[in-house]
Amino acid sequence: MAKTPISGRFPVGESVTIEDLRTAPYGTLAQMRSTEPVSWIPALGAWFITRRDLAIEAMRDADRFTVDDDRFTTAKVLGTSMLSLDGPEHGRHRSAFTAPFRPKFIREEFEQRIHTRAQILVSDARSSDLIELRTAVAGPLAVGTILDVLGLTEVDAADVADWYGAFGQAIVALTVGDPVRPDVQTVLDQLYRTVGDAMGSDDASLIRTLVDERILRPDEIPAAVAVVMFGAIETSEAMTANALWHLLSDPETLDRVLDDRSLIPAVVDESLRLEPAAAWIDRYTTSAFTFGGVELGERDLVTISLLGANRDPDVFDEPDVFDIDRPNLAQHVTFVQGPHTCVGLHVARAETNAAINAVLDQMPNIELDTSASTAPEGLIFRKAAAVVART
Ligand code: HEM
Repeated sequence: MAKTPISGRFPVGESVTIEDLRTAPYGTLAQMRSTEPVSWIPALGAWFITRRDLAIEAMRDADRFTVDDDRFTTAKVLGTSMLSLDGPEHGRHRSAFTAPFRPKFIREEFEQRIHTRAQILVSDARSSDLIELRTAVAGPLAVGTILDVLGLTEVDAADVADWYGAFGQAIVALTVGDPVRPDVQTVLDQLYRTVGDAMGSDDASLIRTLVDERILRPDEIPAAVAVVMFGAIETSEAMTANALWHLLSDPETLDRVLDDRSLIPAVVDESLRLEPAAAWIDRYTTSAFTFGGVELGERDLVTISLLGANRDPDVFDEPDVFDIDRPNLAQHVTFVQGPHTCVGLHVARAETNAAINAVLDQMPNIELDTSASTAPEGLIFRKAAAVVART
């Protein structure tokens, strides 16, 4: 565990509360970035990196900043996967997913289906005057798409919600030092049985391909599939909800995008920059060393703030403004850089693009109900909980 630094050395970090980080952290992050770019936050028990260059250096350097640590609860719940490995073993686990998630394959095999799914969801929701786009479109699009990509087409959304809920409860239990409840374990076992069935089926699904390719051993496949599935759900839902919220909150940009759909990728990237669905990532130091002028101890927890890095004024002018014309808006680090760069980013982009297109196609007079909608927030997962629009 981290040796607590001398009190008073990191005045901003030392005064940060969890609530600050959850609701409106931008001012605090800006202060930390300018005076304590590697800070110490006692409320998290972690070092906290907010400057973009330092964030990138740390996320690219798995030799010194690893994910491989016993405190990583996802691995305790789901088993070992690419998310909890570094080095050659990480490369092996990840390589099983390189081909099915590469952009060309996603474009050719899934883009049209994602587009159709989004159009149907919007069309179903359009019957009422007011529509809440996160639950009606972003959420079901995220779940339906990842089930389709994995080839789990017989599974329904309610099962996935149960699995995801059980996963969340197991993480919380382990984080506070409790055992995983047997009923929670039973639900997770159902997920693993479902993946096991898909491994044995004759369908030409991604899961069946994983078995045939033999990059992963059969006992490694369920955890790999669970990590891909859970990695896709809340993040993609948030990405789409946040992009819709940003776009609809800015009527001038909305008018431009209604006239010119080629602007949608810029909307998506600028939204990803301002509100990354995952606000931070955790790493553990493999030895003691000095970083950003601060002495880190061996096996210290280091939190890399993607939210902080994405609003670094040295890279992005007026970083808190939503501006789809900024030349470097794609230079955000929302999907991370280095060995753990998000595997699913092209699928997620296809989803958010499709959702925006479907909304604009079918609701050209759409307006945000600002009183019923909420800006993105959250400690680790940041999302607009309600994106309510008049159709
Ligand atoms: C179809 C959707 C998605 C899938 C299947 C997916 C899957 C994954 C997987 C398997 C990893 C682990 C990669 C590795 O450790 O080598 C990963 C990493 C990551 N993903 Fe995604 N993801 C999806 C969408 C998203 C979205 C929408 C966001 C944010 C907007 C996101 C943010 C991240 C981040 C921050 C990491 C790095 C985690 C770390 O380094 O600790 N992902 N993703």
